[in-house]
Amino acid sequence: MPDTLTGLAPAKINLTLEIGGTRPDGYHDLSSILQTLALADEVTLQPAASTSVENTGPFADGSPGGPENLAWRAVDALADALGREPEPLRIRIVKRIPAAGGLGGGASDAATVLRLLARHWPGVSENALATAATGVGSDEPFFLAGGTALVEGRGERVTPLPDLPGHGVVLFIPPDTLPNKTATLFRALDRDGRVDEPTVSTALAERLPARVTGADLYNSFERVAFDCFPGLAGLWEQIEARTGEAVRLAGAGPTLFWIGPVNETERVRNAAEGLDCTIIPTATAGSPWLR
Ligand code: C5P
Repeated sequence: MPDTLTGLAPAKINLTLEIGGTRPDGYHDLSSILQTLALADEVTLQPAASTSVENTGPFADGSPGGPENLAWRAVDALADALGREPEPLRIRIVKRIPAAGGLGGGASDAATVLRLLARHWPGVSENALATAATGVGSDEPFFLAGGTALVEGRGERVTPLPDLPGHGVVLFIPPDTLPNKTATLFRALDRDGRVDEPTVSTALAERLPARVTGADLYNSFERVAFDCFPGLAGLWEQIEARTGEAVRLAGAGPTLFWIGPVNETERVRNAAEGLDCTIIPTATAGSPWLR
């Protein structure tokens, strides 16, 4: 293995997220169109005497530094899938994606570790990568591909779709998230009781590539997010009133996002300036592995 391996780990938004019933394994069936963004962490791997994870950058706080970091777990999961010993690595992550915000940052870091190792460990098949990715979490299989894709099952069935044409995206990140957030949001949906059929995802998949706005999109978690995240409903209203645009919840939240024409990005960003959230302007982007 060379001295240093470096790769980008993009954030994602869910253009659609339709959550079906609970499965025998306790997970939920999903139908979701995911899209990678230009906003990305940077992951660097170096051979070392023992494994460590070091987070730097604007969103280093809130990202675990130990074996529970998904990037560390990815090394172990790939070694497991190949029946070999994990190689000790110094993992450095420049965190530009807020943690636990619904943007998939940790899962993307893990998938980037898998892609980097696949270039340098002998005998890594796409099958072993997929097994390792699913073993780490439900968003990881998507990040092995990136771009625009339909994700089904627990998250392990990934069908690439035609790339969305370039869109501007503005992320609005509230100051607080929740411990154990994703599981908490799924439990809130279970109490809500309604089960979504994958109608919006199927219809959008068929009409891609297409231009979209928030009004075309759908996320089952929006039914419970206002109850789970104090202050989110007020922030959502303020953003929509100031910008005159529909915004949506990113994944299990609490990040809200606007998507639309690239040349509107600056106006939307400026209109929300001063609200109680961190604002990050970015854009949709294809797979970093194909660039
Ligand atoms: O697989 P991952 O660790 O990303 O999922 C976090 C939690 O979200 C799981 O423990 C589970 O409670 C819930 N989940 C689910 N159905 C999915 C994906 C995640 O219920 N398809």
